[in-house]
Amino acid sequence: MNQKDKKRAAAEAAIQYVEEDSIIGVGTGSTTNYFIDALAPLADKIRGAVSSSEASTERLKALGIEVFDLNQVSSYDIYVDGADEVNPQKHMIKGGGAALTREKIVAAVAKRFICITDDSKPVDVMGKFPLPVEVIPMARSYVAREIVKLGGDPVYRQGVVTDNGNVILDVHNMQITDPVSLENTLNQITGVVTNGLFAKRGADIVLVAGKDGVKTIS
Ligand code: A5P
Repeated sequence: MNQKDKKRAAAEAAIQYVEEDSIIGVGTGSTTNYFIDALAPLADKIRGAVSSSEASTERLKALGIEVFDLNQVSSYDIYVDGADEVNPQKHMIKGGGAALTREKIVAAVAKRFICITDDSKPVDVMGKFPLPVEVIPMARSYVAREIVKLGGDPVYRQGVVTDNGNVILDVHNMQITDPVSLENTLNQITGVVTNGLFAKRGADIVLVAGKDGVKTIS
């Protein structure tokens, strides 16, 4: 089983949580794309989706799945998305695809976060994967200097503009031993829109696909 097969297996395992006539919160990324594809046979059975990116919206609509504006929907049961790293507490780093802010918003409204990953994503301590931080463009250098004071090594993700018109700093060389505290600290820096730590609101269920099948961590 290669990595793509594992991503597909984790995504397909998440279909068991999809209920008829429900609205599904949908993330962004290659693993989530497999989940969207797996929703195709259910397109007529669900009410629709709330999406975390233009890319996922386009893919959902191509299958005939209605995509609701989040302001039209007060709650839904599940949000399904991938992660770049996930620790044993089910905290995650997300935002490798630059969709972190909308992902965090769409996840916040869901009752349960179902994280779908292959077995390269679980780690004991997060931080090897550079932590994405979405920043208002004019604040980029200021925020970078503040992150250096916290011990991080921010790198401007050249050529990337988020769906919200902002830029991304990827923070290298941080051993994230207290994800909740770091998530709060980064969000306090003026000019930061949000950061890719999903710790205050981590996953409820993590589906990890490996060579022996899909393991559920809940
Ligand atoms: C998108 O911004 C990210 O949060 C993705 O969910 C994360 O990068 C995982 O992506 P893959 O499923 O492509 O590995």
